[in-house]
Amino acid sequence: MKKKFYIKTYGCQMNVYDTERMIDVMAPEGYEETDSPEGADLVVLNTCHIREKAAEKVYSDIGRIKKMKQAKNDAGEDMILAVGGCVAQAEGAEIMKRAPVVDMVFGPQTYHNLPNMINKSLALKSRGEKSRILDTDLAVDEKFDQLSKKAVKKKPTAFLTIQEGCDKFCTFCVVPYTRGSEFSRSIDDIMSDARKLAAAGVVEVTLLGQNVNAFHGVSSDGEEWGLAQLIRKLSKIDGFERIRYTTSHPHDMTDELLEVHRDVEECMPYLHLPVQAGSDKILKAMNRTHNSATYIEIIRKLREHRPDIALSGDFIVGFPGETEEDFEQTMKLVRNVRYAQAFSFKYSPRPGTPAAQLEDQIDENIKSERLTRLQALLKEQQTEFNNSVIGKTLSVLVEAPGKTADTVFGRSPYMQAVQVNVGEKDIENLVGRIVNVKINEGGPFNIQGVLA
Ligand code: SAH
Ligand code: SF4
Ligand code: F3S
Repeated sequence: MKKKFYIKTYGCQMNVYDTERMIDVMAPEGYEETDSPEGADLVVLNTCHIREKAAEKVYSDIGRIKKMKQAKNDAGEDMILAVGGCVAQAEGAEIMKRAPVVDMVFGPQTYHNLPNMINKSLALKSRGEKSRILDTDLAVDEKFDQLSKKAVKKKPTAFLTIQEGCDKFCTFCVVPYTRGSEFSRSIDDIMSDARKLAAAGVVEVTLLGQNVNAFHGVSSDGEEWGLAQLIRKLSKIDGFERIRYTTSHPHDMTDELLEVHRDVEECMPYLHLPVQAGSDKILKAMNRTHNSATYIEIIRKLREHRPDIALSGDFIVGFPGETEEDFEQTMKLVRNVRYAQAFSFKYSPRPGTPAAQLEDQIDENIKSERLTRLQALLKEQQTEFNNSVIGKTLSVLVEAPGKTADTVFGRSPYMQAVQVNVGEKDIENLVGRIVNVKINEGGPFNIQGVLA
């Protein structure tokens, strides 16, 4: 009988990718994904450490699952509870101490060993020995080799990790500590994974990396390729009609990469380019290596190459020392750029990061008030962008059936979520296809249209 495997994903797309790979590595072991932890044989929490709230959620989930594990034990069965991801990497030993119910803790660079860890734990348990396992090694070397051997699922969109880790050390951020230093996969490995995805019917590939545009993979003849060269090559693969990449740092936004947005039809007109703040004083204190003028210049060039490009960003309000004037600079930058989409957060001091040590921490109420103002502006811009496509015909990649029997869900080239009314059409046949949609309704979150 198949065993039941429940996995919960917190945090960024990199974790989504890792979760998919864990499902892949556990399938040959007889574990089948299930959508509830209740009664599962294996529960993995793939965690995020980026902000305090994200990390605390993990402990409350552990509390909930503890009861389910107890119920299973009472019935004479076992449940393995494992914590993976970035909280595991950052505070593995603490989790082991604080939550004795957790059987296993592993980091983002060791999850390919999950089957071994499970087997080891089960063997120890069956002998009545202590079976808790902690594996938070940070070396990336063998992980991708192991993962590439596993099969891929058929879906029209897929993530492909090409780069991991970060050497930028923004003073607020835990990622360099939880994911380790920067690592680029080799060109051959990426191309081989990409061909497998295309053969499995993937139409849209999103290249992933914590600093995806810092990518510098080595080809078989020893040449070092940047992201621009890689995208050009990937665009020639039959079947790939759309290519996206995320997340980029302004520091590595080279002219070659900007030109890809002009030249490569498959490269979608959407870019997530976090700026974090508009004040140069704050950007310096964040160790961001760009200032507001260099960021705006990148945006100007990008729009010169691809006038319709949709922009997205990340923002932090209430970084230590942020004055009202500094915050106004962020608002000014946002007005200047005009975003199609954005993610904004209150600064959250993270243990072990330099900014957490700074003295002039900002009051929570002030942070909340600034976040409200910023989000109101961003929402206004997002609505404006979505409304600007009303009346136009956009190509939409259909990803799934919609909420009602006569609709499907898809994405426009600009990453907008689109509900498409397809009438009597066979919905299953549309999934995975790119269709033309006449947009008739906008709004802040998603847009709607009909088949053109
Ligand atoms: N380059 C990365 C960024 C990861 S973190 C990537 O691959 O996406 C995503 C966003 O979280 C950051 O851009 C930043 O805006 C936000 N963030 C990071 N650390 C934070 C902190 N300590 N408090 C609040 N927001 C934070
Ligand atoms: Fe974090 Fe900065 Fe690295 Fe992004 S670039 S992961 S924000 S340290
Ligand atoms: Fe979170 Fe780790 Fe991603 S801290 S944002 S899951 S890299």
